[in-house]
Amino acid sequence: MELATDYMGLRLANPLVASPSPLSYTLDGVRRLADAGVGAIVLFSLFEEQLREQALRTARLVDTSADSFPEALDFFPAVAEEDAGPHPYLSLLERAATAVSVPVMASLNAVTAQGWTSYAKAMEDAGAAAVELNIYYLPGNSPLSGREVEQRYIDILERVKSEVTIPVAVKLSPYFSSTGEMARRLDEAGADALVLFNRFLQPDIDPEELAIVPGVALSHRADARLPRTWIALLCGRVRAALAATSGVESSDDVAAYILAGADVVMTTSALLRNGPEYAATLLDGLSSWMKRKGFHAVAEPRGMLTVPLGRDEAAYERASYVNAMRSANAGSYDDW
Ligand SMILES: Cc1cc2nc3c(=O)[nH]c(=O)nc-3n(C[C@H](O)[C@H](O)[C@H](O)COP(=O)(O)O)c2cc1C
Repeated sequence: MELATDYMGLRLANPLVASPSPLSYTLDGVRRLADAGVGAIVLFSLFEEQLREQALRTARLVDTSADSFPEALDFFPAVAEEDAGPHPYLSLLERAATAVSVPVMASLNAVTAQGWTSYAKAMEDAGAAAVELNIYYLPGNSPLSGREVEQRYIDILERVKSEVTIPVAVKLSPYFSSTGEMARRLDEAGADALVLFNRFLQPDIDPEELAIVPGVALSHRADARLPRTWIALLCGRVRAALAATSGVESSDDVAAYILAGADVVMTTSALLRNGPEYAATLLDGLSSWMKRKGFHAVAEPRGMLTVPLGRDEAAYERASYVNAMRSANAGSYDDW
């Protein structure tokens, strides 16, 4: 079965990619992911705030520009120098890139375009095959307009693109008024891939403890539906590669993403639940499915169930929605 896949110009042995998580926190973790057979690995994120903190510590430079977001540092937990700061990150990246044969990508989690983007170049120099930019900005009650928020994404991407020659992927959120247009703008601004989607932290509340519980939750199958819908809508309409992230529990979920048009399918929760070796189970399941369906190469099913080109996407979605709601009201709905 031919699983080899192109992703942002990188040749991967297969389309399964380990997305950022604690599994890539150590060289041993990276090796286990590679041994399990993933096509590529994106390391856990280095946060812009860590880079700023480092810059402040070393240069005692305070960037007071209006856009610098210094208040974020007030909330950022002080990390021990030896913890995953920029230097240990680059060191891990360098060792990982030489230790495993699959591409290792770096992840930068950003909120502004100022003062830190040169680290992307340092990541390239350390051997990153690509940079994945996780742009996480929740405007809260900010007076910024939607257009200004969107521009921030473009500015960050353009700054990072100007620093590096390796491909740059953007992991974005689904919460734009016009997510499709945002995807197109990022595409035009040079994003080599769109990673759909980032999840906003949605804290829980513990009524017994009267406390906010900010933890990150693992995903479930149903979480794949939103990114999969957008992948089906964007496939063939943007030049950027499309990476799916969220809700892969079994090889069926990998197959469904590929049918929708994903170039690669990322996984974290399933590997955290079942161990990195579960990647081999996902890949075996993908190969069995392809064999059962008569596909010889992963390119054959890719995009087979995308929203057909030439359709009015909004009208197509609206018609699907109306039909689905009418069936639901007639008693036909899913319970998962
Ligand atoms: C424990 C944990 C840590 C994560 N750390 C990062 C991170 O550092 N950077 C990032 O971009 N995403 C991070 N993510 C998000 C994952 O990379 C992934 O996009 C998300 O979990 C959805 O994929 P999944 O359904 O396969 O888990 C993390 C997720 C989990 C559960």
